[in-house]
Amino acid sequence: MNLLVTGGCGFIGSNFVRYWLGQHPQDQVVVYDKLTYAGRRENLHDLWNDPRLELVVGDIGDLALVRQTCQTKNIDLIVNFAAETHVDQSILGPLVFTETNVRGTHVLLEVVRELGIRLHHISTDEVYGHIRDGHQSVETDELAPRSPYAASKAAADQLVQAYFITYGLPVTITRGANNVGPYQYPEKAVPLFSTNALLGEPLPVYGDGQQMRDYAHVYDHCTGIETVLLRGEAGQVYNVGTGREMTNLEMVDIVLTTLGKDYALVKHVADRPGHDRRYSMNVEKLRRLAWEPRYDPKEAVAEATKWYAQNEWWWSPIRSGEFREYYDRQYAQRLAEGGAQ
Ligand code: NAD
Ligand code: TYD
Repeated sequence: MNLLVTGGCGFIGSNFVRYWLGQHPQDQVVVYDKLTYAGRRENLHDLWNDPRLELVVGDIGDLALVRQTCQTKNIDLIVNFAAETHVDQSILGPLVFTETNVRGTHVLLEVVRELGIRLHHISTDEVYGHIRDGHQSVETDELAPRSPYAASKAAADQLVQAYFITYGLPVTITRGANNVGPYQYPEKAVPLFSTNALLGEPLPVYGDGQQMRDYAHVYDHCTGIETVLLRGEAGQVYNVGTGREMTNLEMVDIVLTTLGKDYALVKHVADRPGHDRRYSMNVEKLRRLAWEPRYDPKEAVAEATKWYAQNEWWWSPIRSGEFREYYDRQYAQRLAEGGAQ
């Protein structure tokens, strides 16, 4: 197969490309990526000399370039990871989220409709909104997104489903839990807390830190997507996570213990507006396709943290570069003021 992996220079996309080429040595992969701040060539540093991999730098909103790339590379399948992905960035500057996540996905659907290619779309548990205690989201639950990021992902998710219903296109969707692992941009909680702890800087915990997340290892997300690509049914949605959650303070504890750092680094700061209290998904539908996660959330967070301890070459230039400006914007006042515990 010839795959077009959009957003393949990002965190999950690059892990997926590495995983896929390892498991499917006959396949060719074209990474199609705009190389935003989160898209980094070095995420695939070990693979650029591989003749099975190439990079096209482009925007998923550029219909002519997506179409031309699919035609000239004989693409059979698009796996769409390309997105703006950080909730806090979506609060600071939301419009680009609609542009890439909604319009960009729509453009991919139009190319797929025209050329008869299969599309697998990467969605998120955040489309369900925050989940009351005692419930786990199932794929048929109504979507109730609560941040600009989540709303743009929900719109994209529904467009993909609408194209299946209306045009019968061969599309599938996975909704992933919070992923952790190598090459995650340090705006996200686990790499931010790991690298802050390594730098001896405070860990800014929003609000009381009792929010619950299913921290799943990116490896298990990759095997989940592979399972759907090989055995999933067109038009269907599949949740991918561990089905277990922990509080953010429990996650912080694992990060600090793994690095041998002191809890005194934790600093409670002003909460994120509209902060979703709990995500939790039921993953039985994917299990029925003979998939099982390898890591539980505790192992996933510990493994991810170890990677940052061992790969300063990767995060150090990010932390000392343009990231600084975002960090100050997001955290300077919060850290100066502190917050309720
Ligand atoms: P990321 O922010 O690390 O990477 C996003 C990638 O998309 C980057 O390489 C970026 O350059 C590229 N991109 C952005 N805009 C583009 C555009 N207009 N055209 C082409 N490329 C563009 O994101 P990630 O964490 O790897 O997430 C990948 C996908 O998985 C996203 O769709 C996200 O919504 C979804 N997801 C993420 C998580 C998570 O925990 N990170 C969980 C569930 C679902
Ligand atoms: P994040 O990695 O941004 O993922 P999401 O918001 O998509 O779940 O955040 C994970 C959790 O950690 C979330 O409850 C917000 C919290 N968090 C903090 O407490 N402090 C931070 O600086 C960040 C980035 C996140």
